[in-house]
Amino acid sequence: MSHEPRDNPAQHREQREPEELHTPIGWPLLVVFLGIIAWGAFYYFHDLLSATGATSEAGDRRSVVVVDPTAKADGAAVYAGNCAACHQATGMGLPGAFPPLAGSEWVLASKDIPIQILLHGMSGPITVKGSLYAGVMPAFAQLEDAEIAAVLTHVRKSWGNAAAEITADDIASGRKAFADKSTPWSEAELKDKVGAP
Ligand code: HEC
Repeated sequence: MSHEPRDNPAQHREQREPEELHTPIGWPLLVVFLGIIAWGAFYYFHDLLSATGATSEAGDRRSVVVVDPTAKADGAAVYAGNCAACHQATGMGLPGAFPPLAGSEWVLASKDIPIQILLHGMSGPITVKGSLYAGVMPAFAQLEDAEIAAVLTHVRKSWGNAAAEITADDIASGRKAFADKSTPWSEAELKDKVGAP
């Protein structure tokens, strides 16, 4: 004997075949979608039509930085990146470890002295403002002339210091003057060959 399909017992266990409702996406979801689209359109066109006259760059608010190769190096930035770890942001150094630059006779001396210290570094005992230090100061010859000039000018004009500016040309001639030197200065050698503060 044959069964009609609806008499199949397996079919009675099945759920009803789902039917598509009138709005398959619930209306609250639709409202959210439309809201997002409307907001996006507003955001985009509002920017387009704004007073700045911005066109296709709407939304990109970065401003164009024109890098001027003749611009002066920023001495404060060079100091923060290369010197402040030892000599401190205050220029006061750390007692017993790093000598101060604020009020230092070596900084305020004839410009050749601080230039040579930066180009070749220093090691061994040095007296600064009456205190003895015996550490190692790395050379900074890898910096551009303009950067060394800027950082030394910054150091010579900060924290109450008031000494003359140092230019990139000063650094270039400082490099030539001791081009063969490959070891850091000692205090004695610096005083002998460059000058005493
Ligand atoms: C790693 C630590 C360190 C860094 C970084 C450093 N120095 Fe020095 N600096 C020293 C030490 C230590 C001495 C003393 C050297 C000695 O004992 O012979 C010194 C000495 C000096 C002196 C001569 C003494 C004085 O106090 O005036 C000057 C000028 C100077 N540094 C400037 C700078 C500048 C400018 C920078 C950044 C471009 C710099 N130093 C970066 C550790 C450092």
